[in-house]
Amino acid sequence: MNYKEEISKRRTFGIISHPDAGKTTLTEKLLLFGGAIQKAGAVKSNKAEKTAVSDFMEIEKQRGISVATSVMGFNYNGVKINILDTPGHKDFAEDTYRTLTAVDSVILVIDCVKGVEEQTRKLMAVCRMRHIPVIVFINKMDREGKEPFDLLEEIERELNISTRPLSWPIGIGGTFKGVYQLYQKKLKLYAASKTTINQDVVDLDSLDNTLLDEKVGASAAKQLRDEVELVEGVYEPFDLSLYRTGYLAPVFFGSAINNFGVQELLETFIEIAPYPQPRETNIRTVDPEEPKFTGFIFKIHANLDPNHRDRIAFCRVCSGEFLRNTFYYHTRLNKKLKFASPTGFMGDSKSLIEEAWPGDVVGLYDSGNFKIGDTLTEGEQLQFLGIPSFSPEIFKELENTDPMKTKQLEKGIRQLIDEGVAQLFVQNPGNRKIVGTVGELQFEVIKFRLLHEYGAACVFRPLSFSKASWISCSSLVDLKEFMRIHSSIIAYDKDDRPVFLSSSKWDIDYALRQFPTLSFHENSEWQQQTIKT
Ligand code: G4P
Repeated sequence: MNYKEEISKRRTFGIISHPDAGKTTLTEKLLLFGGAIQKAGAVKSNKAEKTAVSDFMEIEKQRGISVATSVMGFNYNGVKINILDTPGHKDFAEDTYRTLTAVDSVILVIDCVKGVEEQTRKLMAVCRMRHIPVIVFINKMDREGKEPFDLLEEIERELNISTRPLSWPIGIGGTFKGVYQLYQKKLKLYAASKTTINQDVVDLDSLDNTLLDEKVGASAAKQLRDEVELVEGVYEPFDLSLYRTGYLAPVFFGSAINNFGVQELLETFIEIAPYPQPRETNIRTVDPEEPKFTGFIFKIHANLDPNHRDRIAFCRVCSGEFLRNTFYYHTRLNKKLKFASPTGFMGDSKSLIEEAWPGDVVGLYDSGNFKIGDTLTEGEQLQFLGIPSFSPEIFKELENTDPMKTKQLEKGIRQLIDEGVAQLFVQNPGNRKIVGTVGELQFEVIKFRLLHEYGAACVFRPLSFSKASWISCSSLVDLKEFMRIHSSIIAYDKDDRPVFLSSSKWDIDYALRQFPTLSFHENSEWQQQTIKT
């Protein structure tokens, strides 16, 4: 087996955006270019998620769609590309954060009319935290949008990342004539077309060439010359290592719906995006070239059919070769498992696979063995890091309304939490259950699924908390005292770590004034991060 070759052939990435910026369209166009699908419309958008909160059928439909499109693989110029789908609806942002743990890079889509939006900021915060390399695709250039320089400035300021344009637009909206590829020195002329993928490309050795005036007109040609001069004056040459370490985002301009700018994006992506890299565990760094298989679960999908409680756990291969029907070690359960029908993902469909390599995602049928974050190895006791929980934004108390079904409720909520539908915090004594989410939609999903899959009824009572902070303290005595005084706002997360539930920043500041030895953490992985550094 040539591990190195297989690994260097793989690019595993996610496309992220604020809803409606064009993530689904771009995904589809990449699949079209890659020959993985034959016509537009094959990849269903996340529209179902964008519908009314209580539209259960739509939620169910969405769950069905997203199993198939959770991972979309295709081959392009000898490279195996795996696109990991992320939900469009902001209420499922937690899902996206977790998917980002399994990618090696991302493409961030920004709508040129709207610029940086709320979800863009949140997603980029996660990318920055994990130093994920980001390529920016500024979409919808066929619309009257913001000026390119203003957009770049906005991205740098709002997303706290340096940018470097690799293409430059000629006009925008009604006057959009195409892009000039700064490195290839090629002019790509725009023609609005949702169906063809061939565009007129003109080689231009220099922007002084009068061919430019012929193709785009004298005034647009002058503007391009002036702007490119400014770009070359203002920006440093593109630095690959700054991109690979997450500090510099190369920027492309295009129009996904019109297939414009997508091919350059794909080709540059293949050239510069990192192939699977070493990953941190609680004890050591795992190199993808190690011959022994390791992987972790970053997503769990419940079966749509309540009669078959099977779930699909999505495992990202981190090292070695994954083989069908081979025993692997589940490090949390200290147990060996083998998988008779692992699935791989090509285009918008899935099929049985015999083997998989680092960077690939394998779908494993699971009857309840997996939680998000679980690690599989060939026997070594280790745990992959980088799958933290972030604070939810909405908190509600879960109240059982059918005492006869207490066991079912207990089992159901634990399984849904293992799947990552929401976070659960438990207060003791009393076993009071507080469910935390980033959106209202999840509460509807949980209620619906508890009833339909587990026969358990519940209601949610709103709570005033808006943040959960993981607690650490340099003094055990202080910690015990703090937890005693504040027992009504202390709860335990799924791994029994204490969290402080607060309603405002004031609560946190007050607690810190009372107990200066305390520290509050934004995510659940602060401990491991500390150990790592
Ligand atoms: P999302 O996954 O990020 O939520 O966005 P999606 O691709 O669904 O695109 C959102 C809307 O933007 C869609 O229109 C899509 O057609 C449109 N769009 C995507 N790329 C471009 C582009 O380059 N230019 C223009 N002008 N529009 C673009 P829709 O009306 O919401 O849906 P549909 O009826 O077209 O499917």
